[in-house]
Amino acid sequence: MKVLMLSSESVPFSKSGGLADVVGDLSARLSLLSCDVRVMIPAYHMSPSEAGEEAASVQIRLLGGFRQVDIRQKKLGKVTFYFVCDSLFCNRRGIYGDTSFTPYPDNFLRFLILSKAALAFCSQAGWIPDVFHCHDWTSGLLPFLIKRDRTGIFKHSKTLFTIHNLAYQGVFPKIEFLNAMEETDRDLLDGENINMMRCGLIYSDWISTVSPTYAIEIQGHEQGCGLEDILERRSAELSGILNGIDTAAWNPENDPLLSSHFGQGNMEGKALIKSQVQIKFRLPQNPDAPLFVMISRLAWQKGIEELLEALPQLLSDGKLQFLIIGTGDSKYEDQLRSLELKHPNLSANMIFSNEAAHMGEAAGDFFLMPSHYEPCGLNQMYSLRYGDIPIAHRTGGLADSITDLFSNPEKGNGILMDSVNPQSIIDSVRKASGIYHSPEFFTARENAMKCDFSWDSSAKKYISLYRQITKKGGKHA
Ligand code: GLC
Repeated sequence: MKVLMLSSESVPFSKSGGLADVVGDLSARLSLLSCDVRVMIPAYHMSPSEAGEEAASVQIRLLGGFRQVDIRQKKLGKVTFYFVCDSLFCNRRGIYGDTSFTPYPDNFLRFLILSKAALAFCSQAGWIPDVFHCHDWTSGLLPFLIKRDRTGIFKHSKTLFTIHNLAYQGVFPKIEFLNAMEETDRDLLDGENINMMRCGLIYSDWISTVSPTYAIEIQGHEQGCGLEDILERRSAELSGILNGIDTAAWNPENDPLLSSHFGQGNMEGKALIKSQVQIKFRLPQNPDAPLFVMISRLAWQKGIEELLEALPQLLSDGKLQFLIIGTGDSKYEDQLRSLELKHPNLSANMIFSNEAAHMGEAAGDFFLMPSHYEPCGLNQMYSLRYGDIPIAHRTGGLADSITDLFSNPEKGNGILMDSVNPQSIIDSVRKASGIYHSPEFFTARENAMKCDFSWDSSAKKYISLYRQITKKGGKHA
């Protein structure tokens, strides 16, 4: 099975969020399951030597003429990474923009180049994937381009389009599209705009998303972000496959970013780390104070607004401790800073640090994830593995990886809230502190640490899906 992953980011080369982890980790796992998997990503801010050796120089056609694009390659384990070396990528610092709030004005052209370079490269190299696995809006044009390809080279190739977050769609004025693309189709236009996510959803042979619950949620008005009609229409060709995590990088038994280690039946290491973290992050030294950790982008999606409203009441109980790590919207950062000044039991750290994330996960007793929506979420899986009981909203991948310990005391590994508001957060945190260090707490923690979220089973599900779509052929083929 030959698979080309097309993505705007992948670890270990570029990352703005979980998408990069999924593309890199899933590819590595697929390559061990005898899949010839290659990944194509832009070469952001990379010199030619950093992007490895030359693979090809391809010509792509845009409305204004031809553009020459170099593709370089590097092998990592069994996975070949191809880097699209266009000046619109190489000479920029950011992935989508210089900061997360200001996208580059030519993003339509940048990601059109990515899709066109993928097709030009495959046909020039004579390496024709069975499946083009496209991720999120930045690769949404490829399924359309394949359907319009008149060379016949890709007539047996299928496209799988994976949604990681439906809220980010890549919407551009139609003039961008008319100015850049030779192939046009009225179907591509959504009123006055071109919507790259919508394009991927319409033209791909199959759609998947990163959890079974999110696959259902996005067919409804509340989470469909305006695309629910298409998703509902294609529901027979829509799968939800829960992401895995990198269990080698996130292993409390030998995590190199931790000074002590722990595992089921041997939890002293966790207590040691908690006390180190209390010192490092300026919290009172107290092994008996339940520590609630949140590691997150500080954005509305993550429920930070409701948490900020709940915190003053929760912090007035001086025994509860809160450790928050993450960057994001400056209004939330400012509010956290001013709350921290008033409450010694809150440590707010506006940093993006892998080491701090590992330490926070290892130290926590509970992990807060009150996301309004969460297509999959990775932190709840890290926290389960590190023995922090997650407190989360029953949505998307959170609902698929957490079992509520109050409704299912035997199997429960977390606490689920049915809605996100300041009161539901206050109630859940109180319920959590009420069971702290009780038998229920220890059972839930044991259940949490037993969970297996390795990529193995998810990668096998992707392989069956690839087989299914290549055998059956898509409705739109
Ligand atoms: C997006 C989603 C997140 C998911 C990740 C990887 O960032 O918001 O829930 O875990 O993609 O699929």
